[in-house]
Amino acid sequence: MAFQAPKGTYDILPGTPFLAARDGLLEPARLAGYDYMEPPVFEDTELFARGVGASTDVVTKEMYTFSDRGGRSLTLRPEGTAGVVRAVLEHGLHHGQLPVKLRYAGPMFRAERPQKGRFRQFQQSGIEAIGLTDPALDAEVVALAWQGYQRLGLREVRLLLTSLGDPACRPAYREELTAFLTGLDLDEATHERARLNPLRVLDDKRPEVQAQLVAAPLIIDRLCADCKAHHDAVVAALDILDVPFEPAPRLVRGLDYYMRTTFEFVHDGLGAQSALGGGGRYDGLSESIGGPPLPGIGWALGIERTLLALEAEGVEVVGETGLAVFVVPLGTAAKAWAVGFVGQLRTRGVATDLAYGERGLKGAMKAADRSGARWAVVVGDRDLDADVAQLKDLTNGEQTAVPLSDLLEQLA
Ligand code: HAM
Repeated sequence: MAFQAPKGTYDILPGTPFLAARDGLLEPARLAGYDYMEPPVFEDTELFARGVGASTDVVTKEMYTFSDRGGRSLTLRPEGTAGVVRAVLEHGLHHGQLPVKLRYAGPMFRAERPQKGRFRQFQQSGIEAIGLTDPALDAEVVALAWQGYQRLGLREVRLLLTSLGDPACRPAYREELTAFLTGLDLDEATHERARLNPLRVLDDKRPEVQAQLVAAPLIIDRLCADCKAHHDAVVAALDILDVPFEPAPRLVRGLDYYMRTTFEFVHDGLGAQSALGGGGRYDGLSESIGGPPLPGIGWALGIERTLLALEAEGVEVVGETGLAVFVVPLGTAAKAWAVGFVGQLRTRGVATDLAYGERGLKGAMKAADRSGARWAVVVGDRDLDADVAQLKDLTNGEQTAVPLSDLLEQLA
């Protein structure tokens, strides 16, 4: 039986504007001084358990954890932030200029139930700004994602923004919310969820639950003075940056490390998995993985969902720049010449291919057409003696004879 890609995985196939999306989303961040880095694809299991949070679905149900041959417990990264902060601490990057600004891209792994826009191996592009608590930095980070989407041509992305408070105001709020939830008519599983993380219940999509939550206390109304001032400053800076957002006081994220500024980018053309990307501030993460106090903020954007959004909006993204030249040699001597000529063109930066295999003129010209190249160069053994090649414009079929000695310059 033929093999298939494992459940929840997929092949990135030619013709998909995958790289254009992955790298295009990060281009505004690159221009804002976010340098590229990549942590490994697997890390100590404990890093994610402590960093992402032991009460999250990601850690309790979705991690790909295995023992290596030395008996160490390793986990395929479910997200990038914990690894990036680990790397910053390990290499002392936070002892230099602050904030440390980093961008990254690559595959993440979560054992979720696959569906449209949800995979077990999926791709993220992300940034992290580490070392400062400055609301203007929060606004920069949020704006860079916004600009990434705009740059790709997406027009229907919505930004949801809120503040989750901090250790000064959240405990009292959490108690208040817990007391409120305890009084509601909820099933046992939901009450259990409320005990583990009451905030998670606010995100319950069931109408009968939502109806009971109308009067639920919201953290945005309970922020301490510092958190309120921080949030107001973020909002003011986003205004200056011309980034529109919707207040989302019930926004709940799936990872435990968030505090204060928290946001998500959503798209209504994607079906159930409407979250295109998300992020926020994680000022306690460094300490929870054994580091010093080190604030940070960042985001990660899902590439598969970005591609779905592009499709939903009918945006054509130019993928790979295709071939410029396709060389068709006819005969043994011409083939030897073509191999050398193709090499010279490639060295000059011209994307070039050649008709391999024993094909007649007709078959080779068909290959030239299919290659997507703009120009075909047709050379027979006799042409070599006469020092000419036929240069054919594949867009209109026009053909001219060009001296071999001029051909390289002309095409380059
Ligand atoms: P996250 O919200 O868990 O955040 O993931 C970010 C994005 O990755 C989601 O909005 C979604 O587009 C995509 N994504 C997540 N899970 C899947 C999946 N199973 N299949 C396809 N796409 C998926 C984080 O990962 C945080 N590390 C973001 C962050 C960076 N916060 C601060 N810095």
